[in-house]
Amino acid sequence: MTEYIHGGTDEIETARLEKQAQYLSRWLLDGIDVGPGARLLDLACGVGAMARRLRARLPDVHLVGCDLSLSQVRAARHFSGRGGDATIPFACADAGQLPFRNGAFDAIHCSWLLEHVPGGATVGILREARRVLATGGRLWLCEVENESLHFWPRLPLVEECFEALWTAQVKGGGDPIVGRKLHGLCTAAGFSQVLVTPTTVHQHAGSPVGFWRASLEEFAEILESGTDALPDGLRPRVAEAVAQLFALQSTPGASFTYTFFRARAEG
Ligand SMILES: C[S@@+](CC[C@H](N)C(=O)[O-])C[C@H]1O[C@@H](n2cnc3c(N)ncnc32)[C@H](O)[C@@H]1O
Repeated sequence: MTEYIHGGTDEIETARLEKQAQYLSRWLLDGIDVGPGARLLDLACGVGAMARRLRARLPDVHLVGCDLSLSQVRAARHFSGRGGDATIPFACADAGQLPFRNGAFDAIHCSWLLEHVPGGATVGILREARRVLATGGRLWLCEVENESLHFWPRLPLVEECFEALWTAQVKGGGDPIVGRKLHGLCTAAGFSQVLVTPTTVHQHAGSPVGFWRASLEEFAEILESGTDALPDGLRPRVAEAVAQLFALQSTPGASFTYTFFRARAEG
């Protein structure tokens, strides 16, 4: 695993993943179509924020979650049990070496994993996903393209902080623009019928209630969670950058735009 730029699995990171799922799952889960009784794996499930939304949306599938981090798996178990929903089994497992037999799943959902995987390991992880998928089973991926992040009016300090964060991610072995590579990566791993869809989120004062603030909170929290990875000169300025982000809400004509990429592929 690369150096995780979002810090440890503490309450703050757990809450960040939960809020991210609250905000983005309407786009991430759109079109995920898995029939009753099908076996669905949420690969790199983190604290289970997306798994719980998959469970709510697809109550009749056999859902399993797995993640490399034991602390995230423990948090996932805790939240799944607490929600009173049918408890989802969560396993601690490396996506590069899954403890499941060939063809064990009919579908796999995987959000925001590949950005944290060293480039050399990405295709191997996708091959492993394909191994545990039944023939013709479907993979749904969702990944970042951080160069697509734009605020208007431009915010030089905020941009500098994010660029430093993405640089730190690359130095740590991750890939902040992996989203645009999904077609090539899935094809190299042997998937067929690979369909990649860019999804642009554009928020401003005229967005439906809650969205403008949620988008700013999402990126403020990404910046705050990555503070330790920033250079010494920027670390003390994160609070200032976050204040500038939130000030966009009272700036006439301000907006936020970000594109992430989804892929659907057949094993
Ligand atoms: C940004 S979180 C996303 C969690 C979840 N998919 C979501 O959308 O809320 C990335 C997750 O990938 C996990 N991860 C990183 N490398 C992994 C690997 N090799 N195998 C399994 N999980 C891994 C991390 O532990 C972390 O929980």
